[in-house]
Amino acid sequence: MLRTQVAIIGAGPAGLLLGQLLHRAGIGTIILEQRSKDYVLARIRAGVLEQGAVGLIEEAGASARMRQEGLVHDGTEIAFGGVRYRIDFQALTGKTVMVYGQTEVTRDLMDAREAVGAPTVYEALDVTIHAADTDRPSVRYRKDGHETDIACDFVAGCDGFHGVSRQTIPEHALRTYERVYPFGWLGILVDKPPLSDELVYVNHERGFALCSMRSATRSRYYLQCGLDEHLDDWPDDKFWEELRRRLDPEAVARLQTGPAIEKSIAPLRSFVAEPMRFGRLFLAGDAAHIVPPTGAKGLNLAASDVAYLSRAFVEWYQRNSMAGLDTYPRRALARVWKAERFSWWMTQILHRFPESSGFDGKLQAAELDYLFGSKAAQTVLAENYVGLPY
Ligand code: FAD
Ligand code: PHB
Repeated sequence: MLRTQVAIIGAGPAGLLLGQLLHRAGIGTIILEQRSKDYVLARIRAGVLEQGAVGLIEEAGASARMRQEGLVHDGTEIAFGGVRYRIDFQALTGKTVMVYGQTEVTRDLMDAREAVGAPTVYEALDVTIHAADTDRPSVRYRKDGHETDIACDFVAGCDGFHGVSRQTIPEHALRTYERVYPFGWLGILVDKPPLSDELVYVNHERGFALCSMRSATRSRYYLQCGLDEHLDDWPDDKFWEELRRRLDPEAVARLQTGPAIEKSIAPLRSFVAEPMRFGRLFLAGDAAHIVPPTGAKGLNLAASDVAYLSRAFVEWYQRNSMAGLDTYPRRALARVWKAERFSWWMTQILHRFPESSGFDGKLQAAELDYLFGSKAAQTVLAENYVGLPY
């Protein structure tokens, strides 16, 4: 039987960030991750960090490489009807975002954790959570054929959408809200410079496209695709041909193509599980909520959950007060729902919906026309994109 203060399930950004913040506050943690370290580091996911997330990574002592290699973006472009329109975050809100891949954030947090000698068990299988609704919860896992129990004060469920933590909560103690969108994103990563200094979100009659990046020499592109499509249907040449069709001529002229170093399809979904807590089990990140990637909010929401949760644990251990933990679900969910709204809205205005009527199309065009013509509307977008305060 091992013992720790907070048992953390999942070594994604939520679990690693929480582990590091708690370590810095003198709180002991063990992280259990079902995959290998290399597997976790090979997953290509988010790319845009809000200032709040950047600040937390700094607080976690894992920001040195991000500060050197991350790209600060003052704005973004939205293309519609052959016109590209710039939203100037810096001018509208005084804030910027940082382009730095989730893979790199994860690597930096893993390195920081290893440097302080805090334990992470990779390839921890069959994790189960016990007595979460009592004062003595525990977690059990199997590794190399041996079962181990960890007694703890609290369990942090940071194990993503498919993890065991949310599934441990009895149905009567959980309420879920969901919207599934009738399309997915086909993503490609390529070692070529991006076509623009900033991200370009494209609403085109053939479907949404996004031109993003990971560095000055590595680009990430996405195409809206059908839910029934497979990676085999999309050899590189076909991807580039379809992207060119959705871009304006000037962007096409600057597009540099090459062999894909990664290609994946992700379905789009909005999902929230309330109340993000069951006794001494607290959910954070994708374990509790999913947003469609259009607003670049998934990783950032995981970070804001962890900000609330880590401070609440510190309050408990340093001041013996449950107040922060008791109010965690309410405070986290208030921010989650605003990000859900923004991500849903960005998805709504930028994609082509198969069932959409002529009326819906006209409303979408009016919405974009209004956005391009109204400083107030642009401020709403910018304020949400750079991240609401927490
Ligand atoms: P995760 O990163 O999912 O980490 C959870 C960890 O828990 C994983 O390492 C997993 O292996 C582990 N785990 C799961 N089950 C168990 C178990 N039973 N026992 C132990 N460990 C377990 N967001 C954007 O903003 N932009 C994007 O382009 C984007 N693309 C995405 C593409 C995909 C395919 C996915 C799935 C997500 C994407 N996201 C994107 C969302 C963003 O990556 C997530 O919001 C972010 O990873 C959330 O971090 P997390 O730590 O909560 O969860
Ligand atoms: C990405 O670079 O992967 C990315 C950027 C912005 C988004 C979604 C994904 O809205």
